[in-house]
Amino acid sequence: MSRRLEFPPGFLWGVGTASYQVEGAPRADGKGPSIWDTFSHRPGAVHHGDNGDVACDQYHRIASDVELMVSLGIPAYRFSISWPRVQPDGSGQANEAGLDYYRRVVDLLVSQGIEPFVTLYHWDLPQALEDKGGWTSRDTASRFAEFAGIVGAALGDRVRRWTTVNEPWVAAFTGYAAGIHAPGIHDVGAAVRAAHHLLVGHGLASRALAEAVAGPSEIGITLNCESVYPATTRPEDVAAARRVDAQLNRWFLDPVLKGSYPDDVLGDCLGIGGDGLLHDGDFDVIRTGVDFLGVNYYKSRRVAAAPRADSPGALSGSPANLLLARWLGAAEIAHGDRPVTTKGWTIDPEGLTDLLLRLRADYGSVPIYITENGAAYPDYVDPDGAVMDPERVDYLTSHFAAVHAAIAQGVDVRGHVVWSLLDNFEWADGYSQRFGIVFVDYGTQARIPKASAYWLRDVIAANAVEIPPGDQD
Ligand code: FCB
Repeated sequence: MSRRLEFPPGFLWGVGTASYQVEGAPRADGKGPSIWDTFSHRPGAVHHGDNGDVACDQYHRIASDVELMVSLGIPAYRFSISWPRVQPDGSGQANEAGLDYYRRVVDLLVSQGIEPFVTLYHWDLPQALEDKGGWTSRDTASRFAEFAGIVGAALGDRVRRWTTVNEPWVAAFTGYAAGIHAPGIHDVGAAVRAAHHLLVGHGLASRALAEAVAGPSEIGITLNCESVYPATTRPEDVAAARRVDAQLNRWFLDPVLKGSYPDDVLGDCLGIGGDGLLHDGDFDVIRTGVDFLGVNYYKSRRVAAAPRADSPGALSGSPANLLLARWLGAAEIAHGDRPVTTKGWTIDPEGLTDLLLRLRADYGSVPIYITENGAAYPDYVDPDGAVMDPERVDYLTSHFAAVHAAIAQGVDVRGHVVWSLLDNFEWADGYSQRFGIVFVDYGTQARIPKASAYWLRDVIAANAVEIPPGDQD
């Protein structure tokens, strides 16, 4: 017998994208270059030499993409604002033509009854600011607040839900330490400074946004959180998992929700950023009350103790491996027989329930939206024109059930946004990873809803998910 899990009335269902991943049109209407425009054109930076020049061409196709969402019964669309469309040089007066694009996006969504859920920073920093140090410079946080005020004044009468920064851990460590993302820098001290300034930027932007918006608003930050499990109960593995949890999760959760860095971040990591990084009053700014926490969840992590590496060779490879090995003395290890997606990410829905319970236990009952959750699979168009993706339906079913289990235990989860509406430019992986519930034929820009899109439409209409016989929730 299948079981039906009902979600609370008013639970917000949505789908997400980010500007550089879908928009294309890198020079339209006065847009300035972003760090991703620069980085993706650097030879060898992105898989296959791909870039976001065209991507899903959403800049020119937003009207039909909104119609597509209407046809799929999508209640909320999480998208991000390209900062260099609004401020081509990253500061000063707004470029009205760029801002008009987002006015139009919001108008189209609102006129169709779809709620706009806006991210201010999803990694496409104006190149002009990077040229002055990017997020390693404290001034970028002030510039970000200025941008937030401009966007808030333009869209704040119709946008209610906002997140400031998307995944500051990734922006800082993948961009400035591992160099796998823009701006492609290999300097851990720079990453530590960037992480702190992204947090300060979040606080300053929250204040600017709250002042600028006209109507009622909910303002939060989106963090990439994972449950981190020790590989064994050996004390050294437990200690390694604690260090990784500090670097990945608590580094960002604690200042935003508690107003301080955890001792193990201060002790193990922060000094690498150099003297003078923390200014008086920073924590008051960072802790500017969030109305909700956005959680992006894809996978969990198992770690074991490893010798602390000290060779320059440790600077190559993934950010996780880099930081784990070099400073944290911890290595990520396989989850045994758990399946992985084409991205190589371990599928662990229980890890999501554990994470949500842990957030409530450690930080109290802050309202939570799952702002991203989804999976990449090697989808293709069948000879009959359909795209069947039963793996994605299984993935989403198990993760919706995981959220439901947390809600049943009292965690205040208010919505779930699926990544992504469309297959899109998946950063360093280019077009090789398909996360969409809608297939994109990049050559023709045809959109073909996958089986998961029709399944999601039914979940949303019922505000409930069916768990097939034999599956656990
Ligand atoms: C997250 C990013 C999002 C997308 C997914 C797969 O880290 O926020 O843009 O790339 O991963």
